[in-house]
Amino acid sequence: MKNDLGDLRKSYQKGALDEAQIPSNPLVLFDQWFLEAANHDGVDEVNAMTLSTSDTDGFPGSRVVLLKGYNVDGFTFYTNYNSRKGRAIESNSRVCLSFFWPALERQIIIKGEATKISDAESLAYFESRPRGSQIGAHASSQSEEVLNRDFLEEQLDFYENKFKGEAVPKPVHWGGYLVRAQSFEFWQGRDNRLHDRIVFVKDGQRWRRMRLAP
Ligand SMILES: Cc1cc2nc3c(=O)[nH]c(=O)nc-3n(C[C@H](O)[C@H](O)[C@H](O)COP(=O)(O)O)c2cc1C
Repeated sequence: MKNDLGDLRKSYQKGALDEAQIPSNPLVLFDQWFLEAANHDGVDEVNAMTLSTSDTDGFPGSRVVLLKGYNVDGFTFYTNYNSRKGRAIESNSRVCLSFFWPALERQIIIKGEATKISDAESLAYFESRPRGSQIGAHASSQSEEVLNRDFLEEQLDFYENKFKGEAVPKPVHWGGYLVRAQSFEFWQGRDNRLHDRIVFVKDGQRWRRMRLAP
């Protein structure tokens, strides 16, 4: 198979990032961009972000997870602590989160340290999930090899029966991580490949801001 994609390109003209007009706190800018993306008809799954880890086999690992909250403390997502990503974070808590919203020609890259949130917080979120997702968390040993699809369906049936008529307990291996940001990069596509890239790096209690060449 041969497929030359050399002509696949577009020019970016939807916005600009001007230092004089952006807030000095990157979280404020994140919030502005997130809300704009959330309210934009062309953006689907606004909270889907790529989580990259340093995996235990030495390769970087990336996968999409859903951002479930953000505030001054950081960015929260939920997963199985025994999964590949969970094991990666156990051995190296430094992670990278990235968002790409093509409809706005924007990308945000956040680097930071991931720590488990409290069991009580994870439980509160777990209890808000649909019952099917709660049972799925028991049925799937995320990232483990399974024999076939039937095995997964059987596991689901097993836990549906097990918890029939009662609340589904949160598995101990399921919960959230909080990523405390150490740097943010805001990327706005521009014409002629002269994109805007504004980076904020944590410097003690302050944020140092700089512009990077595209
Ligand atoms: C749109 C989307 C949202 C996802 N959200 C989550 C999530 O919030 N948590 C999660 O554990 N996996 C989520 N996944 C599945 C992950 O991408 C991944 O397949 C899974 O977590 C196993 O990753 P790992 O083996 O690297 O640990 C999502 C996938 C997609 C495409």
